[in-house]
Amino acid sequence: MADRSRHLIGLLLGAEEDWPQAFEAILRRVGPVTDGAGKVHEMTSERLTIEPFELTDPVRADLVIDRLAYWYYHPREWLKKAALMDGTYLLNSPFTFQSMEKHSAYCAMVRLGLKIPRTVLVPYKNPVDNVRWAYTSAKYNQSFDLDAIAADLGYPLYMKPFDGGGWRGVSRVNNQDDLHQAYDESGEMLMHLQATVDYEKFARALSIGPETMVMDFRPDEPMHARYAVSHDFLSPKAGRECEAISKIINAFFGWEFNSAEMLVTGDEVYPIDYANACPDVAVTSLHYYFPWAITALVRWSVYTLVTRRSTSVDLHTDRYFAVADDPSFSYDAKIAAYLALANEHFTTDRYWQWCEENLPHLPEQVHDWVSGPDFDRLLRETVAATYPEHEHERFMAHFRGLTGMWVTDNSDNATTADNATAADNSTNAQQVPGAAG
Ligand SMILES: Nc1ncnc2c1ncn2[C@@H]1O[C@H](COP(=O)(O)OP(=O)(O)O)[C@@H](O)[C@H]1O
Ligand SMILES: [Mg+2]
Repeated sequence: MADRSRHLIGLLLGAEEDWPQAFEAILRRVGPVTDGAGKVHEMTSERLTIEPFELTDPVRADLVIDRLAYWYYHPREWLKKAALMDGTYLLNSPFTFQSMEKHSAYCAMVRLGLKIPRTVLVPYKNPVDNVRWAYTSAKYNQSFDLDAIAADLGYPLYMKPFDGGGWRGVSRVNNQDDLHQAYDESGEMLMHLQATVDYEKFARALSIGPETMVMDFRPDEPMHARYAVSHDFLSPKAGRECEAISKIINAFFGWEFNSAEMLVTGDEVYPIDYANACPDVAVTSLHYYFPWAITALVRWSVYTLVTRRSTSVDLHTDRYFAVADDPSFSYDAKIAAYLALANEHFTTDRYWQWCEENLPHLPEQVHDWVSGPDFDRLLRETVAATYPEHEHERFMAHFRGLTGMWVTDNSDNATTADNATAADNSTNAQQVPGAAG
C-alpha cells in the first residue's frame, strides 16, 4: 500500500464566511497529491475553535491560516505555542506582529533605499494612561515645535497613526489650522506626519507566499468598486517594481499573507501602507480577483505542507542590508538583488515548478467551481449578509458580472493549467490579464 500522509489545515476565523467556504470547496477538489517519492498526501481543513490548552497539548494542525490572532490574545498565544513546540506553519506568524504597523515597514524600506515619503513620528498629544508617565513626561518629554516640523515637510501633508489601518485617524493637512486640529484630535494615538505624494495611480498588491497580484485601487470609491479590473494601468517597469517591493517586504519581515499600497507616478513607486496581518480577501471587494486569491491560498498551503517547508521566526535582515550598503548598486540593481533574496526565501522557482508537476488541474478545478452553482450560492449568501435587502439584486448583478468576466478571461488557461513559467506567473494584474488562474 502506498505510503500516506495526512495534513490538516486549520482555519482560525472571525466573521468571514466567503473565502473560508471557497477555500474549503477548492481544497476538497484538489484531492490527494503524490510527491516525487511516491508518497500520497491528503489535505483537509478544519475551522479551529478557541479553548483551554495545556502548553504540552499536541497541535493537530500542520498549517494555520489565521485571521484572528492579531486582535485576540488567546488564539495568538496558541499560535506561538504551535509554532514553537509543534513546528506548525503559519500564515501569518504572530512573531512578526510587532512589526505589523506602518512604522517598522517604513523604517525597513528607508533602510533598503526605497522611496518612502519623508515621515516624522511625533509624541502623543495626550499623556498615556499610566500613573508613572506624569513624572517621566515632566522630566524627559521634550517640548517640540509642531508647526516647524510641518513647515519643513511642506503642506499639504498627511497625519496618520503609526499603526493605522482602514483610514482610522488619517487626515490630509492643508494648513496650520488643520495641523493643530488633527493633532488635538489624535488624543492617545501615536501619529506620523508624512509628506504628500502626488500620484497618478494607486496600486494595491495582495501577496500570498510567492504570489502577488497588483491591482488598480481607487480609494475614494465605495468598497464594492474600489478594485478596478484593469490590466495595464501601470507602466511595465512600475508594475514589476510594485510586485517586487511587495514580495521583498514580505520576505524581509517573514510575512506570508499581506496587502500593500503604493502610490505611483510614471515609473516611480512610493510605498505608503505595508503591513496588514489580516488583508481583505472578501469576494465583495476582490470580486474578479477573488478566484486568484483562493487559488493562491490553496496552492501555497498545499505546497508548504507536501514539501514540508519549515516555518522560521528568524529574519535574515543582514543580507538585505549588505545590498543596501553596497555603493556599486543602483536603485534598480538593488530592487533586483532584494527580489532575488525574496524569491530565495519563498523558493519561488521551485514553487512554480512543483505546482506545474503536482497541481496541474488546480486552475481548471477553480474555474469549474467559480462557474458553477456552489459559487453562485456563496455569492448570493455573501451579498445577502453584506447589503440591505433592496440592494441585493443590484449587487448580485454587479458581482456576477465581474466574476463572470474572470470566468471568461480564464477559460483558456483553465485547460492549459499551470504551464506558465515563474516569470509569466508574476501575477501583475496590469501585465498578465487573468494569468493568475
Ligand atoms: N503620503 C501620502 N501621500 C498621498 N496620499 C496619502 C499619503 N498617505 C496617505 N495617503 C492617503 O490616505 C489614505 C490612507 O492612508 P494609509 O497610509 O493607507 O492609511 P490606512 O492604513 O488607514 O489605510 C491612502 O489611501 C491615501 O489615499
Ligand atoms: Mg491604506
